[in-house]
Amino acid sequence: MLKLDYIRSQFPGLNTDWVLFDNAGGSQIAKPVVDRINEHFYTSNVQLDGSYPQSVLAQERHDEAHIKLAKWLNADDPKELIMGSSTSLLVRILADNFRRILRDGDEIIVTNCDHEANIGAWRDLGNYGFKIKEWKLNPDSMRLEKSDLEALLTDRTKIVAFTAASNVLGGLNPVKDFTRTAHKYGALVCVDAVAYMPHRMIDVKDTDVDFFVFSFYKTYGPHYAMMYGKLDLLNALPGFNHFFINDPPYKFQPGNYNFEFCHGLGALPEYFLTLAEKHGYNKGSERDKFRFAYSLIEKHEEELSKKVLDYLNNRKDIVIIGSPDSSADIRVPTISFVQKNRDSREITLKTDEHKVAIRWGHFYAYRLIKDLGLQKQNGVVRISMVHYNTFEEADLLINALEYAL
Ligand SMILES: Cc1ncc(COP(=O)(O)O)c(C=O)c1O
Repeated sequence: MLKLDYIRSQFPGLNTDWVLFDNAGGSQIAKPVVDRINEHFYTSNVQLDGSYPQSVLAQERHDEAHIKLAKWLNADDPKELIMGSSTSLLVRILADNFRRILRDGDEIIVTNCDHEANIGAWRDLGNYGFKIKEWKLNPDSMRLEKSDLEALLTDRTKIVAFTAASNVLGGLNPVKDFTRTAHKYGALVCVDAVAYMPHRMIDVKDTDVDFFVFSFYKTYGPHYAMMYGKLDLLNALPGFNHFFINDPPYKFQPGNYNFEFCHGLGALPEYFLTLAEKHGYNKGSERDKFRFAYSLIEKHEEELSKKVLDYLNNRKDIVIIGSPDSSADIRVPTISFVQKNRDSREITLKTDEHKVAIRWGHFYAYRLIKDLGLQKQNGVVRISMVHYNTFEEADLLINALEYAL
């Protein structure tokens, strides 16, 4: 059982009479992260890499945070972590690098069901002589099928872009299996993990992903993003910076970046380690502790999903957009639905009256909503929970939905 009193004490933004169930839009920030950002501002807010003490301290803090973040992902080297303002920008930078090295007729596979961040940047390369193929969601299973990917792959495929978890459907994709399939054809993968990282642990070595990108503002941090890339690939790419900056990660980080956030984010992996310790797990390696913390999170989130999905599944007028199954093997607690023929916006404005914050729309998974024919209903209603949410909050949501539906 998660000690929710302890967990919620780590998120001061939860001190409100609103139920915050729009976490896939933006989660609350963990207090240790804010504390460390402040620490940077008050004691080491100078340029890095100077000879004077404040600058030496700033550099040490920056490097230490990168080591912690690399260990969290199980990356070999902090140089494999590229910082940027958003996932959308980092994928654009990556795609621009590939634009400069791909050859005429090379192929790129994108899906029709993901956030546009990992679709549009790649699709735009279609203007430069590369062939874009679309891997479509199976509308019956509401999943991406490996067999459909296999049918698209050829020895000209260079990139397969997909998500680890859908920000609308909540469904988890088998990242390791899809990656292995792409690699069989010599293609690289670019995985959008924005909707995955608030809920699950990642091991970039075990999954063997080539590029893996996510945004911290949905994973208990500030509005900032990070992309992991395998070092040999980053070394081989041309970069996106001044001609004399040729080493990763700097070659992909034009201009100064956010040192205060880097230092603050060092506290994020620590949050998960402390969570394990607070629940009595003091033995084992760091990876064991991460594993334990995430297993508690997964279990709690599964129960939250079950409660909400049991309610929605019992209503004949509701269609779940995604899997109706609450199993943590299948989904994260991001649950979308439509009420037959009803405008999704209207429903959300009604739940506002009960101080329950959810959201309607396409959530930038524009192609998915269009292909499912849901535009005329103003997209879906999305309920997105994370581990700090409680069963009492889920009850308040259900109560608000009873009123709104
Ligand atoms: C799955 C997914 N990918 C990418 C993004 C875009 O992230 P950013 O705003 O950092 O570009 C989002 C934001 O909603 C998202 O949910």
